[in-house]
Amino acid sequence: MNAELSPIVAGAWRMAEWGWTPTERLRWIEQNIELGITSFDHADIYGGYSVEGLFGEALALAPKLRHKIQLVSKCGIRLVSPARLGNLVKHYDTSAAHVRASVEHSLRALRTDHLDVLLIHRPDALMDVDALSTTFDLLRAEGKVLHFGVSNFTPAQLAPLHRRCPLVTNQIELSPLHRQPLHDGTLDQCQDLGLRPMIWSPLAGGRIFGDDAADAQRVRQVLTELQRETGAGWVTLLIAWLLRHPSRPLPVIGTRRVEMAREAMAALQLNLDAQQWYRLWQAGAGHEVP
Ligand SMILES: NC(=O)c1ccc[n+]([C@@H]2O[C@H](COP(=O)([O-])OP(=O)(O)OC[C@H]3O[C@@H](n4cnc5c(N)ncnc54)[C@H](OP(=O)(O)O)[C@@H]3O)[C@@H](O)[C@H]2O)c1
Repeated sequence: MNAELSPIVAGAWRMAEWGWTPTERLRWIEQNIELGITSFDHADIYGGYSVEGLFGEALALAPKLRHKIQLVSKCGIRLVSPARLGNLVKHYDTSAAHVRASVEHSLRALRTDHLDVLLIHRPDALMDVDALSTTFDLLRAEGKVLHFGVSNFTPAQLAPLHRRCPLVTNQIELSPLHRQPLHDGTLDQCQDLGLRPMIWSPLAGGRIFGDDAADAQRVRQVLTELQRETGAGWVTLLIAWLLRHPSRPLPVIGTRRVEMAREAMAALQLNLDAQQWYRLWQAGAGHEVP
């Protein structure tokens, strides 16, 4: 079973910071769709529980677009927030009551009758896998959520849930500045189970472009060399670095700019060879492979 998501996904996490009108937000959605980026990544908590509503308000200006897009959202983190006065301490909650309430809220805010994919945002120490898989089954039977996945789970945390309810993804952080999932079994498990990982902060949240840290400087140096060799821009190269992995990752980009999204999509046409790939790995790590 697989969720049909676009090869690059647009992340809405930062949308509240953009300060846009509903029309400007709709333009962003439309421009992404025009590029072939038809899947949008959300979470209940983004923008202090406001982003799903901002997106839904824009979508309401062109409701027919719902049939052209896929909506991914997450739940399971409870923030201390003026929008949720009952949360006295930041915590995780994967109880049936919370997951169901969060889904209902996401559906209302996004102005849709279903989510294409629902992810558990972070591993919850109190997660009851039997109860959670029953909740997933009920939400699927009701047509409210088509597919389920997790985010930031270790292989050991993912496996028991996947055995009870087939998952479609683990959304994880990966970039030349954050290589851990390449080596801790996370991506090996994705290949083994046939789950396409979704990749958050594929450009290290923008840190690669301006940060003074030594790792970012080394990565910029190699990007400059690779740009000379391939003619591709930095964003294209960084996304191509992710797409090169055999687990067939789905990068979730966070840009507000259509030019950057276009650069990301160009990566679908660029195949880095193993030496180019390892040069970026080495730049991030600061040493050659053992
Ligand atoms: N599951 C999780 O736990 C989790 C955690 C974090 C994020 N996410 C998801 O992943 C998505 C992407 O995360 P992200 O926003 O950190 O991704 P990202 O694509 O790594 O970073 C986006 C940031 O980089 C900047 N940027 C892009 N191209 C640039 C360039 N050429 N020069 C300078 N800056 C550039 C963008 O600014 P501009 O807008 O100005 O281009 C934006 O601020 C989020 O929207 C969210 O959906 C999930």
